[in-house]
Amino acid sequence: IKKIAVLTSGGDSPGMNAAIRSVVRTCAFMKLECAAIYRGYQGMIDGDFKDMTARSVNNIINKGGTILKSARCEEFRTPEGRQKAYNQLKKHNIDAFVVIGGNGSFAGGLKFNEEFNFPVMGIPGTIDNDILGTSYTIGFDTAINTVVEVIDKIRDTASSHNRLFFVEVMGRDVGHIALNAGVGAGAEEILIPEQNLGLERLLESLKRSKKSGKSSSIVIVAEGDKTGKNVFELKDYVEEHLPIYDVRVSVLGHMQRGGSPTCFDRVLASRMGVKAVEALMAGKSNYMVGIRDNNLILTPISEAIKAHTPVDEELVRVSDIMTT
Ligand code: F6P
Repeated sequence: IKKIAVLTSGGDSPGMNAAIRSVVRTCAFMKLECAAIYRGYQGMIDGDFKDMTARSVNNIINKGGTILKSARCEEFRTPEGRQKAYNQLKKHNIDAFVVIGGNGSFAGGLKFNEEFNFPVMGIPGTIDNDILGTSYTIGFDTAINTVVEVIDKIRDTASSHNRLFFVEVMGRDVGHIALNAGVGAGAEEILIPEQNLGLERLLESLKRSKKSGKSSSIVIVAEGDKTGKNVFELKDYVEEHLPIYDVRVSVLGHMQRGGSPTCFDRVLASRMGVKAVEALMAGKSNYMVGIRDNNLILTPISEAIKAHTPVDEELVRVSDIMTT
C-alpha cells in the first residue's frame, strides 16, 4: 500500500475533522501518500479527490462538521456506481481507503471490498453511538454535552413557569443520546426506542412527580421512541389526560450534530485515525476501529453492521432510580 484515501460518509458528527487530520498525518508520518475524497461515496464516483499533506489539515481539529463534506449516496448502492468508484480509485493510484461514518457507510465499504477485493478500514463517526464493536463513536460525547447544556437552559425556564417540557433528541433507532443526556440533565422521564413503557406509565409517573412536590418536569424523547406519538402528540395527550400541567415542546434537531468537538472526541478521533492506517499497513482489511476499556480494537465490518449497540441496562436502572 502506497497511497491511502480518506472520506466521510453519512450524517456528519463533531470530531470527524480530527479523524481526517489523524489519517492524513499518520500517512505523512509513515511516508505514505494520502488523498482526500470529497462528498463521500458520491465524490468517489465522480473522482472528486485531492492530494493531502500534513499541512493540508492545519487548524481543523477544533472544527465541527467535516471539511470533506458528506453525503448519503444512492448510486454507490448499485454495481454500476461501485464500478465507477473503483475506476476512479485506480485512476488516482489509490490502494486502500478509510471511511469515517456509520452503519450505512460501512455496509457500502464492505460490499465494495467483496466485489473488488479492495482494502477498506472503517472509523465509527456518528452522534448516535449505535455501532457494534465500539463503546464510543466519534461525535457522541460532543452531542450529549450539547444536549445537556441545552436542557439545563430549558430547565431554567421550565422551573420559572412550572412547566412540563417534552424535549426531542436525535436517535432514529437507538436511545443512547436520550438516555445519557437524560441522566446527565436529570430528566424526569426518558422515552427511548428500545423500551416502550406505554403512555399509562408516563401519565402515572408525571402524576407522581407532581404529587411529590416537583413543580416542573423535563421528559426526553428520542426521535425513534415507540410510544407511537411524536412530541407534539405527546403534548396533546398529556394536556388532555393530565390537565394539571402547562406543557411545551422543544425539538433540538440538527444543532446536536454541530459544534466544536469535546476533548474526548478529539482524542478518540486522533487515536482511531492512527490505528486505521496502521491496521491497513499491517495487511488488515474490512475492519472497523473501535474502543473498549480504553483499548483500541478491530471488529470485522460484517459484525459491526449486524445490529445496533443495545442501551446500557445498568444506566436504564440508574435512570429509573433517579426519576423517583
Ligand atoms: O445518524 C445520525 C442522525 O443524527 C440520526 O440520529 C437522525 O435520525 C439522522 O441522523 C438525521 O439525519 P438527516 O441528516 O438525514 O436529517
